Amino acid sequence: MLVYGKHYHSIWLDETDKLVVKVIDQRKLPFFFEIKDLRSVNDVYTAIKEMVVRGAPLIGAAGAFGIYLATLEDKPAADMHRHLRQSADLLISSRPTAVNLPLVIDSVLERLMKIAEVNALKEAALDAALETCRSEIERCRKIGVHGLEIIKDISRRKNGGTVNILTHCNAGWLACVDIGTVTAPIYLAHEKGIPLHVWVDETRPVNQGARLTAWELGQQGIKYTLVPDNTGGHLMQHGMVDLVLTGSDRTTRKGDTANKIGTYLKALAARDNDIPFYVALPETSFDFNISDGLAEIKIEKRDSGEVTHVAGLEGGEIKSVRICPEDACAENWGFDVTPARLVTGLITDRGICGASEKDIRKLFPDKFR
Ligand code: MRU
Repeated sequence: MLVYGKHYHSIWLDETDKLVVKVIDQRKLPFFFEIKDLRSVNDVYTAIKEMVVRGAPLIGAAGAFGIYLATLEDKPAADMHRHLRQSADLLISSRPTAVNLPLVIDSVLERLMKIAEVNALKEAALDAALETCRSEIERCRKIGVHGLEIIKDISRRKNGGTVNILTHCNAGWLACVDIGTVTAPIYLAHEKGIPLHVWVDETRPVNQGARLTAWELGQQGIKYTLVPDNTGGHLMQHGMVDLVLTGSDRTTRKGDTANKIGTYLKALAARDNDIPFYVALPETSFDFNISDGLAEIKIEKRDSGEVTHVAGLEGGEIKSVRICPEDACAENWGFDVTPARLVTGLITDRGICGASEKDIRKLFPDKFR
């Protein structure tokens, strides 16, 4: 997508030095647009863990590049497969909730384990990382095409009046490689001239909505309004939301879906107010092996400092300030699970389906064994 008029992906290989993977440092946005170099598996591990890169599809792609960087590390050929497995385990341990990370890494590894020669391994690992990026972009494009129909429908019902969409967290191009999942239909609708407005939840504790979604939408010329996380219910009660659209970090074969903490409360409010609640996700965010989201999805717990402190810009620098008593006890669950019964539908790269095993199976018969 465009950043100050120039096209960027959220991750890419340095064309002039193929030993370096480049990412946008998302911790610094929207205050500073900084590009960071990743040169080793440890760099990638730290970048994912500390949320330099974040968002389910992007951490999957970063994981694939992490394996590529692992192939470049100086190891005897006989130890390479073991080194790759250890690197994969390390990368997978960086964040537990988004399924894209283990799914992409395991599939890259499966390809590499068939190759013994080190140069061929390096080449295959790079191909796999680049292919992961290309296919994630293509999936987002398709999500856009399918999701557009929902927005068009609402627009028709409102006789061309502005379609108000509420979103939580950041499921835009920064969270993917390009385009985004939630933002894909929004960008297409905007291109088609459908009047749109997005309510952006600030998304405490680390404010992905305020910092990233607001910045992204602004860069693409989409009208938006930033609201505190607790505002959604009020907006819905007063007819100010036509559609709730969120991303997903892991969706089960029965349609339970984990996303950024607070998503469940939006789904509850949407149900109470008869507002459609859709989840936009690529097939790489499904975990077809599990059924019960509440019992089976591991919810990441992060440092409580993200709750007790807030970062912002002051005097040209990013500063972190404490917002509670010094000895306050705080907890930081990163995600929650929205049960399938609250989800109106899933907008996937293969089409739109109900959040049920029967409907998901119809779109993804090859994934059910
Ligand atoms: O903790 P984050 O910022 O990685 O959480 C991201 C989200 O919850 C996104 O909504 C999700 O990954 C979908 S991204 C297309």
